[in-house]
Amino acid sequence: MALVTKSIKGTQDVLPGESHKWQYLEQAVLEQAKNYGYKEIRVPVFEHTELFQRGVGDTTDVVQKEMYTFEDKGGRSITLRPEGTAGVVRSYLEHGLFNEPAPMKLCYTISCYRYEKPQAGRLREFHQFGCECFGTQSPAADAEVISLINDIFTHLGLKNYDIQINSIGCPECRKTYHEALKAYFESKKADLCATCNDRLDRNPMRILDCKSPVCSDIAKDAPKVTDYLCEECENHFTSVKSYLDAMGISYQVNPTIVRGLDYYTKTVFEFVSTEIGAQGTICGGGRYDGLVEEVGGPKTPALGFAMGLERLMMLLKAQNVPFPEEKQCDLYIASMGEAANIKAAQIATDLRQEGFTVLYDIVGRSVKAQMKFANKVGAMFTAVLGDSELQEGKAKLKNMESGEETEISVEAFDEEFMRISINESLKELTDLGYETDIDVNSILSGNLF
Ligand code: HAM
Repeated sequence: MALVTKSIKGTQDVLPGESHKWQYLEQAVLEQAKNYGYKEIRVPVFEHTELFQRGVGDTTDVVQKEMYTFEDKGGRSITLRPEGTAGVVRSYLEHGLFNEPAPMKLCYTISCYRYEKPQAGRLREFHQFGCECFGTQSPAADAEVISLINDIFTHLGLKNYDIQINSIGCPECRKTYHEALKAYFESKKADLCATCNDRLDRNPMRILDCKSPVCSDIAKDAPKVTDYLCEECENHFTSVKSYLDAMGISYQVNPTIVRGLDYYTKTVFEFVSTEIGAQGTICGGGRYDGLVEEVGGPKTPALGFAMGLERLMMLLKAQNVPFPEEKQCDLYIASMGEAANIKAAQIATDLRQEGFTVLYDIVGRSVKAQMKFANKVGAMFTAVLGDSELQEGKAKLKNMESGEETEISVEAFDEEFMRISINESLKELTDLGYETDIDVNSILSGNLF
């Protein structure tokens, strides 16, 4: 096969055998966020480039090296979002959501684009689930978002991850810290990469998360931000820790966490695993009290996080966490002849309305080939409909697992099939040890409660 082109480096396809795991994951994280009062927001995949330059910061690796930026046909500079926060802040402002009572809690599941060197857990197109909470400066909010991530991971069945927190202060304490960093890096200037030399004057904190091995080695002995916090930031951080202690959430204070994006203030955090290789940060976030103003809005404290869904999926698999089984085919109707084909289509339509997954032949295969296909798709029941079944008004329904065959009426196929299928499910529940006094009649009549 000579393909015109293959997929783009650093992108992934999710194939049918895997997609139900993604659906489960996306649904599960969303459900937990809803328990905390988050509502979903959907924003465009691209924005004007200035938004990320201003929001994420033009001395960050993301903006300087990793953005997919292009000119559209109208001559505008457009960027595929490298992250979700800036776009959500833009939308929050554009639609006046700051007029609603605080806190405004918004969550999103999005694709993101970064031109990074692909490796395990590092892609050029990846997916994030994120939450942003606007309008609160209380340390209780910082602890609550950390607790939400912890709940999501616990609910998914994850173990063995570390919660690392830090405070990187406010613009006030940042001034003295920047001076200390400048003094430290000035003496190593000759060894720093060209980008970091540029950062030295403009934003020395960014040198701390440079991916070049030489720069990150030099950064190890740099002054720590926690030694330069002002009283207010220090008190805020102490209070966040008290909340986490009271909530029974274990964490480590890691003074080297500064995050790779410019908008953070005060609390920052990462959820880290050692089980998926070098790219072990599954989730990161923090407070960004200046971003809303930076994007042109009123002074609004805010905070949030985003988790990388590919990394989360890798960790779930590494820990052998079970996923719910994908729903299989409930019934395959093998048919032969025009009248039987039409009857099969009619029965399938009715049963699908009742929520059953029903397949029949739309390819034109022989009955033998249809039965082979029914096996392949894992049909729980099969029925054969041909001229003789239509004439006699009776067809055989076969339970593919037990091999048991039951004769059912073609005319009342729907009701008889539903009865047998529901009985089978109730039997499975009993076999699994669940006690239930629900019977098939109450289910069919809809009088369950
Ligand atoms: P971030 O740390 O840049 O933060 O990304 C969040 C998460 O996205 C990372 O912890 C990681 O799991 C995943 N991720 C990042 N880059 C890649 C990549 N190239 N391939 C695969 N996964 C990746 C943010 O994006 C902030 N917007 C988070 C935030 C929200 N802070 C406050 N609110």
